[in-house]
Amino acid sequence: MPTATQIIQSTFALYEQHGADDYIGEAITQLEHMSQAAQLAMAEGFDDEVVLAAFFHDIGHLCGEGHANMGGYGVVSHERLGADYLRRCGFGERMARLVEYHVQAKRYLTLRQPGYYARLSEASRRTLGYQGGVMSEPEADAFERDPLFSLSLRMRQWDEQAKEVGVPVIDLQVLKGKALALL
Ligand SMILES: [Fe+2]
Repeated sequence: MPTATQIIQSTFALYEQHGADDYIGEAITQLEHMSQAAQLAMAEGFDDEVVLAAFFHDIGHLCGEGHANMGGYGVVSHERLGADYLRRCGFGERMARLVEYHVQAKRYLTLRQPGYYARLSEASRRTLGYQGGVMSEPEADAFERDPLFSLSLRMRQWDEQAKEVGVPVIDLQVLKGKALALL
């Protein structure tokens, strides 16, 4: 049974090993992207579990190596792989679900928010088909009733904003400390 410290080491090692890879189809790295998402959550005063959900939201692209690929745009079902990875680490269900829902939020917004699809990046549009496409009306109604619905849409906004070139990466020691405190 690994200790909490070992779990944190191996989780962050994924970022240290693969974080320099391109954030698929965008001009920044995976690490820069997820770091910016976490910084946006922090800037809005969210709790550490949410900050870390933002930081881990695409961890499925890092831990899912060898899984099927979305036509060169990342790992199929990366949101579920990521959420399951975090559950296995021992993080809480709220964090895991927020990671899982960042794709549901995109599917939801393509249905319910006019103009949303047109604003998506090329990569996000290309992957939508692999992710189940535009959400159905009944799925969207059910998603709206989920207690994490609003927060999931907020996460999605950070995800989309977190694509700025030249923003310094967050101090990973700070995030490691926060993650350790949650295990
Ligand atoms: Fe993302």
